[in-house]
Amino acid sequence: MKTLVLYESKFGNTEKIAQSINQAIGGEIYNVAEFRPEMLDDVDLLIVGSPIHGWQPSSETVQFLNHLETGSLKGKYVAAFDTGFKNIFSGNAASRIIRKLERAGGKQLVPTQKFVVVQSEGPLASGEVDRAGSWALGLRVELEEVTHTMSH
Ligand SMILES: Cc1cc2nc3c(=O)[nH]c(=O)nc-3n(C[C@H](O)[C@H](O)[C@H](O)COP(=O)(O)O)c2cc1C
Repeated sequence: MKTLVLYESKFGNTEKIAQSINQAIGGEIYNVAEFRPEMLDDVDLLIVGSPIHGWQPSSETVQFLNHLETGSLKGKYVAAFDTGFKNIFSGNAASRIIRKLERAGGKQLVPTQKFVVVQSEGPLASGEVDRAGSWALGLRVELEEVTHTMSH
């Protein structure tokens, strides 16, 4: 099973979370700016992460999502996370990411996840890097379960 993690990060916090996820799940990881459509070949699960900028994914992330071709994620599972503040005004970029991934044909595997930064530049709140690893392990179990169910 092949997993691809794509992220965008202005100050490095989302990158740390993405790396922790990738380490736990054992796939490939790239910045969205490096994305090429061939990267999706044979991918079973695509995970996309972005900082929240004004309640939205970052503009680079939106640009990547808007260029995804219709149907390019057909037959693939998708998951999304964002990083931002822990308050009620923070917004939810990850749900917007998922919506666009679904529009490209992806199937959401698990609920989106937010990882908390203390300030705009970081650092991440204590324990968030580990929590990202745990989230990724849960994703892996879920992916094994759905692909196992499909093949029986
Ligand atoms: C221009 C800008 C707008 C932001 N808007 C939000 C926001 O609407 N909600 C939020 O929770 N955090 C907001 N933040 C904080 C970012 O989410 C934070 O910088 C990010 O999680 C850090 O990740 P990074 O180091 O990967 O860039 C904003 C930060 C910037 C620079």
